[in-house]
Amino acid sequence: MSEATIAVFPGDGIGPEVTAQAQAVLENCGERFGAAIRFVEAPLGGAAIDATGKPLPDDSLALARSADAVLLGAVGGPKWDDPKSDVRPEQALLGLRRELQLFANLRPIQVHARVVEAAPLRREILEGVDILFVRELTGGVYFGQPSERRQGAAGREAVDTIAYDESEVRRVVELAFGIARERRKKVTQVDKANILATSRLWREVTKEVGAEHPDVELEDVLVDAMAMHLLRRPADFDVVVTENMFGDILTDEASVLSGSLGMLPSASLGASLNSFGKRSGLYEPIHGSAPDIAGRDLANPLGSISSAAMLLRHSLGLEEAAVAVEAAVSGVLDDGLRTADLRQPDTRQVGCAEMGAAVIERLSR
Ligand code: IPM
Ligand code: MG
Repeated sequence: MSEATIAVFPGDGIGPEVTAQAQAVLENCGERFGAAIRFVEAPLGGAAIDATGKPLPDDSLALARSADAVLLGAVGGPKWDDPKSDVRPEQALLGLRRELQLFANLRPIQVHARVVEAAPLRREILEGVDILFVRELTGGVYFGQPSERRQGAAGREAVDTIAYDESEVRRVVELAFGIARERRKKVTQVDKANILATSRLWREVTKEVGAEHPDVELEDVLVDAMAMHLLRRPADFDVVVTENMFGDILTDEASVLSGSLGMLPSASLGASLNSFGKRSGLYEPIHGSAPDIAGRDLANPLGSISSAAMLLRHSLGLEEAAVAVEAAVSGVLDDGLRTADLRQPDTRQVGCAEMGAAVIERLSR
């Protein structure tokens, strides 16, 4: 049996609680589905600032580079929030994305049939929602230079820069088309081409890639209109590909469709292949570190557990295991178990650990 090394960065706030549950799930199903999994844990984010003074210590980065995949909890918290500070936990995330060249961030949005009532939109709008966001993750305004505050003739001023070259656009758009072919064969490219030069480049390159995939339908939508369509007719979208910051904003908006941010997973993929011949990647729930509920067994571990399912699929090639985990997650929701973020009538409230145990119980049936 092949052995997979997973780097585990529990991070801050509720990160350690939810990651422990995802790790238990991976432990339970790895061997049964064909891979022995070895976990190596290291500090990241605020926890790493406290321990070493750096949000992304060299040893943690080296571990991430050598692992077959990375499982991450969440980073950040009020303790490290001083905007004037030179070190911030979020730098760990951006550093990992840049150093591992994790250019494609996959964020699936689905609506579980029994959780529909927990979402603030009407059932008719939510029926059939199944969107996969592919957010570009290593370019755009997050990394463009110059990015600085300075003293100008008129006083304080600041500048940020959006920059993309065509190869950065092409690789993520190609990945999006590849995924769309396995799904409902539709790609929506989101931009602000009426204003931004980078958006016009995105449109051009996406059209060229689209021409190589005539079986996939391509549409371009302006980002402001997309913000509205996502709430009015979310079921119309299949794969949505967009640049870094638009993807950041639209995926938080889209998370509302699923009833709770706590349920949503993500995968950040790069080009390099791991010892399984698959893309190495970083897997984390979309939610943050939620310091207000940390350490109280209140967090929803399903986002982290679903991220583990994506890890099994994309970095270890264990599709059957991934499907089993996703079915177990869906199963516990069918059984009426809910963490505090998802209170609904006729359901039973459970803590983070009990929710994780229930998923494992389902998996082992
Ligand atoms: C996300 C987060 C990060 C981002 C922050 C924490 C830097 O919002 O992963 O969506 O903006 O990319
Ligand atoms: Mg975000």
